Order: sequence, then C-alpha cells, then structure tokens
Amino acid sequence: MLPKLWRWWSQSLRHSVRLTGAGYTLRPVTMDDAAAIVALRSDPEKSRFVHAISSDVAEQEKWLARYFERPGDCYFAVERSHDQRFEGTVGIYDIEKGHAEWGRWFLLPGSLAAPASVFLTYRAAFEELGLQKLYCRTVADNKAVVSFHDSCGLKRSGVISNAFTLGTEPVDAVEHFLERAQWPEVRDNLSIQANRISRLIMRNAPTEKQKHGL
Ligand SMILES: CC(C)(COP(=O)(O)OP(=O)(O)OC[C@H]1O[C@@H](n2cnc3c(N)ncnc32)[C@H](O)[C@@H]1OP(=O)(O)O)[C@@H](O)C(=O)NCCC(=O)NCCS
Repeated sequence: MLPKLWRWWSQSLRHSVRLTGAGYTLRPVTMDDAAAIVALRSDPEKSRFVHAISSDVAEQEKWLARYFERPGDCYFAVERSHDQRFEGTVGIYDIEKGHAEWGRWFLLPGSLAAPASVFLTYRAAFEELGLQKLYCRTVADNKAVVSFHDSCGLKRSGVISNAFTLGTEPVDAVEHFLERAQWPEVRDNLSIQANRISRLIMRNAPTEKQKHGL
C-alpha cells in the first residue's frame, strides 16, 4: 500500500468517541498520554490485578502505535471535566459481531471517577458504537471491583479458572455481562451514583471567577 494511503487507513482506525457526563469526560487516548498511562499502571496495589506493562515510556508509545492500527479497539482516557485532569483509562476492545469486552479500567488512587467512567463506557458501547452486549473479566481476588459490578446490576456469567497469568501465577476471573436490553435500568442506577459524586466534585471546583484570578 502507498505510504499516504496507509497513513490515512491507520488514522481512520482511531476512534473519535468522546463523551462527557457527571463531571468526567471519556476521550480517545493519544500518544501524549503515554507517560501518564505508565505512571498510572505503576501503582503497586492496583497493578496486582492487571497485566504488567513496561515502565519505559518509549515502550508504551510503541504499544499505543500498534493500538492505533488495531481495528475493534477503543482505548479512552478518563478526564475530570472541569480541569482536564487525567484520572485513568478504560477500553472497549475485541469488538466483534456487536459484542465486546471492556476493561483496562484503571483509575488514579483516590479518584472519584468509578461510577462516571463506567456510566460513560456503557454509553459509548450502547449509544455510540451500537453494541448489543458487553462483558468484563475481573480478577476474582479483586473483591472491590467484583462487588462494584454486582452493585451496578450486571449479571455474572461465571468464574473462569486460570483466566489470565499475572506475573507468573494463573488467576481466576469473574465474568460479568450487560446486554443492551438491560442498559436503561443499569443506566438509571449508575447515573444516580455518578451524579451524586459529580455534585461533590463541583463543590470543590474553582468557579469561573477563581479560574481567572478575579
Ligand atoms: C485482565 C484485566 C483484569 C486487565 O486487563 P489489562 O492488563 O488492563 O488489559 P488487557 O487484558 O487488554 O491486556 C492484554 C495485553 O495487552 C497489554 N496491555 C494492555 N494495556 C496496555 C498498555 N496501556 N500498555 C502496554 N500493554 C498493555 C497487557 O499487558 C496484556 O499483554 P500480555 O497479554 O502480553 O500480558 C482485564 O480483564 C480487565 O481490564 N478487567 C476489568 C477491569 C479491572 O478489573 N481493573 C482493575 C482495576 S484495580
């Protein structure tokens, strides 16, 4: 393929889904996020529950370059809307025949973005990408995240033995799923949680006057 055509083709695989709600924004990950992603995934407590990645930012840039060329993969940065603070990542990937996995969900310690980022991820999946079913796999020992998915009203498909190898150890995963027909109910539930937190964030956000030093 000619280089110009190849460049156009590669760029056309980059998704452009951007959604804002409940104090947070999901936007496409860019190359400029590489260092923030490495720092984010270096948290020793949370990184126990995801695949290890290199701490070298150049390696992350190479991974992102490959991601930009991969079809069926939407990787998002989670940003606090009022000041564009990067607070985490989430992804919808392995999109095939209306089904997809979501994950790579990783938030800064202390971030309040959990309900809003999940709410926006489901909106992206069902309302922007037109998917029929989403599933996610959580390390069984990651009790907080497993119970978060239960509390949102997701159904469990079951436990997958030895689902991943993290470090050298095989670990079990709990699989949850959400179908398009259940989304309105989960949406109502999540938006209540997300909006409650959003009011808290906005209470602490600088006013327009403060932003401009007035
Ligand atoms: C496995 C799981 C738990 C974590 O996934 P993940 O490591 O973030 O992402 P993937 O499953 O897409 O990883 C697949 C591969 O891509 C790599 N990868 C993913 N994101 C990457 C990134 N930003 N940079 C480099 N490599 C990356 C992983 O290292 C892995 O490589 P490997 O197979 O060679 O080890 C996933 O099922 C998931 O995201 N579950 C739900 C969210 C969750 O539980 N989050 C925990 C928060 S505490």
